[in-house]
Amino acid sequence: MRLIVIVGARPNFIKVGPLVPALREAGHDAHLAHTGQHYDALMSDVFFSDLKIPEPTWFLNVGSGTHAVQTGKAMMALEELFVAEKPDAVIVVGDVNSTLAGALAASKLHIPVVHLEAGLRSFDMSMPEEVNRLVADQLSAMHLTPTLEAGDNLLAENVAGERIHFVGNIMAESVLRHAQEAAKRDACGGFGMVQGEYILATIHRPENTDHPERLAHIASAFAEAPLPVLLPVHPRTRPLLAAHGVGDSTPNIHVVDPVGYLDMLALQGDAAAIVTDSGGIQEESCMLGTPCVTVRRNTERGITLEVGANRLVQAVRSDILRGLAHALSSTRDWERPEYWDLEASERVVQALAGGITPPIGLG
Ligand code: UD1
Ligand code: UDP
Repeated sequence: MRLIVIVGARPNFIKVGPLVPALREAGHDAHLAHTGQHYDALMSDVFFSDLKIPEPTWFLNVGSGTHAVQTGKAMMALEELFVAEKPDAVIVVGDVNSTLAGALAASKLHIPVVHLEAGLRSFDMSMPEEVNRLVADQLSAMHLTPTLEAGDNLLAENVAGERIHFVGNIMAESVLRHAQEAAKRDACGGFGMVQGEYILATIHRPENTDHPERLAHIASAFAEAPLPVLLPVHPRTRPLLAAHGVGDSTPNIHVVDPVGYLDMLALQGDAAAIVTDSGGIQEESCMLGTPCVTVRRNTERGITLEVGANRLVQAVRSDILRGLAHALSSTRDWERPEYWDLEASERVVQALAGGITPPIGLG
């Protein structure tokens, strides 16, 4: 099949790392279209080199903007691309604005949409990602799910069972493919940290960064944490943290630029605990055996809570510190969720081999 795989933002790149080679090995004419939602070298290029991802065939230069501007620009560019290239199907991954744009543009051209990482739900419509997931899933002809719960969510939304394929977690496959190489790096030493004696943190979700009171609580929890906090910071978060006096010389908090994928795996593996609001890091920490504290009102990655790798806390100083104490004393003996293994990309290939049921009305 002629397949166009859409990527745009940091977590997308990691998901297509194992996927594109598997599709090509299976004989598909698979190409990447990069919308350009993320464009800084440390938000985009570094993942292509670290994960040896094939160069995108098309780079659409969409850039930053409000949700409508970014999604609209991506739709316009993708529509033109799909009309010219006539793919048999379009694959979208995850839940970012580029995912939504790809699903909408393809659906309107009657091109079947395949969604990888379908069915995750936070049940929180204030999250832009929840809106993107819901729409992408309603438009998709094939749903490739990371967990059995994700399939149940789709069934509850009246998605036909024959469209749902439990393929497992492609982020987990990526971790397993790169963990050994990453472990050879002394990433923490490079930042003056000692293995097992620091906390790794990332914060970028609007529910935390765009609420000064919550961000202030997070900043003071980091300042009072029992170990130094290494904080590779998303470009949107840096100026917002600076407004709370958190910068390059804040005691106990080491703010650094975003790091590449292999360094990030090494940093996660060597940390005593992780504090994050990232979706992907909740999954990776579960795979790497490092206890995680998620600072959010809810999570679509509930399975990581269930297995005992993760705990959810509100953005309140005392809650974060309590969660951290719990994580630091945890036994790290949880079991990885089902199908969080090396075979997710192969299961995607098998699902596609079974054929895509056409979208309703287009059979
Ligand atoms: C996006 C995703 C989010 C994901 C995150 C991963 C949506 C709605 N959100 O959020 O789900 O968790 O990516 O990192 O798609 N910026 C740069 N350089 C870049 C990219 C962005 O400086 O290369 C800055 C710009 O100021 C931009 C801001 O970050 O306005 C936000 O970027 P955007 O892609 O809109 O959303 P993210 O917050 O990155
Ligand atoms: N990541 C990275 N460097 C960083 C921060 C994150 O390589 O400085 C990786 C992280 O390991 C995971 C992915 O980026 O693989 C997650 O992206 P992010 O947290 O930006 O988005 P989310 O998963 O929350 O949508």
